[in-house]
Amino acid sequence: MAQDNIQSTLHEERQFPPSADFVRSANLAATTLEHLYTDAAQDNQEFWAKQARNEIDWQTDFTTTLDSSNAPFYSWFVGGKLNVSYNCIDRQLAENADKTAIIFEGEPGDVEHISYRELHRRVCVFANALKAQGITKGDRVIIYMPMIAEAVIAMQACARIGAIHSVVFGGFSASSLKDRIEDTQAKLVITADGGNRGGKIIELKKTTDNALEKGCDSVDTVIVFERTGHAISMQADRDIWWSDAEQDQSTECEPEWVEASHPLFLLYTSGSTGKPKGIQHSTGGYLLNAITTMRWVFDIQATDTFWCTADVGWITGHTYVAYGPLATGSTIVIYEGVPTVPDAGRFWDICQRLGVTIFYTAPTAIRALMKIGDELPNQYDLSKLRLLGTVGEPINPEAWMWYHNVIGKQKCPIVDTWWQTETGAHMIAPIPGAMATKPGSCTRALPGIDAAIVNQEGEEITQANEGGYLVIRQPWPSMIQTVWGDDQRYKDTYWPYFDGKYYLAGDSARRDEDGYFWIMGRIDDVLNVSGHRLGTMEIESALVAHPSVAEAAVVGKPHDIKGESIFSYVVLKGDRPEGGIDDELTQELRAWVGEQIGAIAKPDEIRYADNLPKTRSGKIMRRLLRTIAKGDEITQDTSTLENESIIPQLQGKA
Ligand code: PRX
Repeated sequence: MAQDNIQSTLHEERQFPPSADFVRSANLAATTLEHLYTDAAQDNQEFWAKQARNEIDWQTDFTTTLDSSNAPFYSWFVGGKLNVSYNCIDRQLAENADKTAIIFEGEPGDVEHISYRELHRRVCVFANALKAQGITKGDRVIIYMPMIAEAVIAMQACARIGAIHSVVFGGFSASSLKDRIEDTQAKLVITADGGNRGGKIIELKKTTDNALEKGCDSVDTVIVFERTGHAISMQADRDIWWSDAEQDQSTECEPEWVEASHPLFLLYTSGSTGKPKGIQHSTGGYLLNAITTMRWVFDIQATDTFWCTADVGWITGHTYVAYGPLATGSTIVIYEGVPTVPDAGRFWDICQRLGVTIFYTAPTAIRALMKIGDELPNQYDLSKLRLLGTVGEPINPEAWMWYHNVIGKQKCPIVDTWWQTETGAHMIAPIPGAMATKPGSCTRALPGIDAAIVNQEGEEITQANEGGYLVIRQPWPSMIQTVWGDDQRYKDTYWPYFDGKYYLAGDSARRDEDGYFWIMGRIDDVLNVSGHRLGTMEIESALVAHPSVAEAAVVGKPHDIKGESIFSYVVLKGDRPEGGIDDELTQELRAWVGEQIGAIAKPDEIRYADNLPKTRSGKIMRRLLRTIAKGDEITQDTSTLENESIIPQLQGKA
């Protein structure tokens, strides 16, 4: 566990209660919320059992709410059978068949409205196509797609037949894709010829071909959706066009009723050690919290148009694009491209044109758009917006205030939602009609979620504003089930302390005088770059795999827009470049890391040194490296360094 004292420096006094108008129509008023808290405190399992029976259509009711006999492998809603696709789509058909489920907008400007009836048809046809390719319950399917409606259709189709999908973000490299295919032993890959991003085509099929060339023997079939229409190569015995795979398939597909603990999906995420881990999520518990948080935190209502800008390659794009909003019968927006094409008004243009009422994005996007100024957002009619949200990293109060004033016109509550790939759904977040928000705080834990801040001994810290480890003390329905294929890693990573009783989130946090939570950052060697998690070790391993590199250390450096930028120190096998500068090699190493992991992992800065600073026991002095990256004065003891002359090298001064 990190030894550094966790100190908090941020003090924010402003409070923003919801407007009377918002409160009047909100799903949860303060009194209802208090009842939920009381019910959950009285009997947590009974509380969730009641929610599960209210919110989910079960084909077979569950008999045991929570089985803890094999903790920390918890099993919710044992005996229950359900299907997620049925709960998202079929149950809307009786009354809402013609309601728009998805409004898709491509980066080039093409727009398509898909009703629930049409979504049902397309998901059934594609589910039958998957079955025709030999996919059955429990098989793994990789989805490597652009951010288009078909990505959601593919996910829903997998869910419909009980296949376990693993979506790989389209920005990841062939090598990352290959690792995920091999870890899941997937039989089938669903991809597209390409996708449109930033005015360019991302070569998804070509990257898939490269990944498959390197092994991946488990894969029999690649289904290719035609999105861009540009030339790609198809391998006759392996590749099939999406439209051909759908030929003659029935428009009806009986859902596969699966047990509540059946894995709905695997999603890979970085940790401080080793390769990314496949976070395994359940069907029943996951779906339940996707739904409850849509109602409580997003205050979702029948007339809303909900837009979560996250890509389906991340957990946010699972819970708040592909599943939660559809399971509550909502209309969602899916946008393929980047916020700056044709100009940085694109998000606001979409909000105006498509009538978005709830908008959910990451602080990094807010900061980037804020930098461009108020002029662009002010050109659009954003009056339909009624609720705003953020996720992925702490939002700085300045960006929060801009979001509140310029986008929300001071009338939209902002829900700052704390959660993780592992938690499946929001854990700590405001209930917008029932509490005041504070810029930078994710406020209170949701009903039924037992979040606390503890010290190294696992004792709760009750002193206001004292930092500690954020833990969850009771299991919750949408919790991670295990790390795919590695139960030990699941135990070691998430339940290492406190007798294995508390889930360790890996974040530090404090609570203020009102009991509001303030997330302070990670306690492990995990970077948060633009709201995406990257392990320092993963980037270090990629660097060291380059033939010229002997050793590498990677740390995060605070960055105005991205939250953190990637700062690396490299020791070469040969001589250190003259004056520590070799632009050509630096470009080569950046490109190399891009190929190994993906463009998001490219180091922003690289410094060359003769050695890395290490403790007597040989551990890299990361705190020192972080101080140096920031350009701060060194206050750490450096007397143990074998070679103090490396300090000016690390500082870029020699
Ligand atoms: O450090 C926290 C930060 O993002 C981590 C989870 O990353 P990931 O699994 O990629 O999921 C991101 C989207 C849910 C957390 O451990 N984080 C997430 N949301 C917030 C946050 N930090 C502060 N405030 C948030 N609202």
